[in-house]
Amino acid sequence: MAPAQRVLKTLDRVLSKAGICSRTEAREWIVRGRVKVNAKTIRDPEHWVDLDHDAVVLDGKPLQAEKKIYVLLYKPKGFLTTYKDPEGRPTVYDLLQKLDQWVFPVGRLDQDTSGLLILTNDTAFAEHITNPEFHVQKTYLVKASTLLSDEQLGSLRDGLELKDGLTRPAKVKRIRDSESKTFFEITITEGRNRQVRRMVEALDSQVLKLVRVSIGTVRIERLQIGHWRLMTHEEVRALRKIGSKAAPKPTSGVQAGRAGRGHGREGHP
Ligand code: URA
Repeated sequence: MAPAQRVLKTLDRVLSKAGICSRTEAREWIVRGRVKVNAKTIRDPEHWVDLDHDAVVLDGKPLQAEKKIYVLLYKPKGFLTTYKDPEGRPTVYDLLQKLDQWVFPVGRLDQDTSGLLILTNDTAFAEHITNPEFHVQKTYLVKASTLLSDEQLGSLRDGLELKDGLTRPAKVKRIRDSESKTFFEITITEGRNRQVRRMVEALDSQVLKLVRVSIGTVRIERLQIGHWRLMTHEEVRALRKIGSKAAPKPTSGVQAGRAGRGHGREGHP
């Protein structure tokens, strides 16, 4: 192969893409001398690797091709969607301790938001779910701090001007009013930072509770709060199909539960 066509990646990236660790961990492992390339210990995380020709070995074991994994977590309120928090607050990784493969969150949920979070090592799949061009619907249950009129719910539905632009039309369904609060469901196809909270704030109200109850065709159903399970092949396939023909082709090696919904492997906090 001509040099210009060779696919080169830095060593830290090769390790993290293999789905065994984060990029930060990969850099630590490399610096500590745990990684060999072509039988030579390499301590430079930026070392270029050509996976077609170079043999990468970690702790004496050849690196395996990445196996794709798709995890569905019911994130509780209070957990951060990051790997490590400098302030030591709990993160979603504290809930995934029984998982032996590295995964990253597909999009984010705020610390105070609970509900469905997908974690995977499949970057193309993650892009499909988070890229607004694919219009993957995310549905939230919202408790607002005030009674919202039909007109106010209508403006959430039609689109509101936020500081980062007009929101797309949304599906909005009033569930009930109780005392001075409104409970409603909203389905959006974008994933802007704090989008639902900011939309509600634009109505001079506040979000008191926010739960993501579905992502595309995948719903919380019997998943318990703080628990996770592997997604089924059908769920992964259905999410991949949403959107346009531009959706990335399914990759091989899907690691997902074979049984029907709710029967995948579950993790416990
Ligand atoms: N919208 C928000 O405001 N917060 C979330 O966590 C998700 C959507």
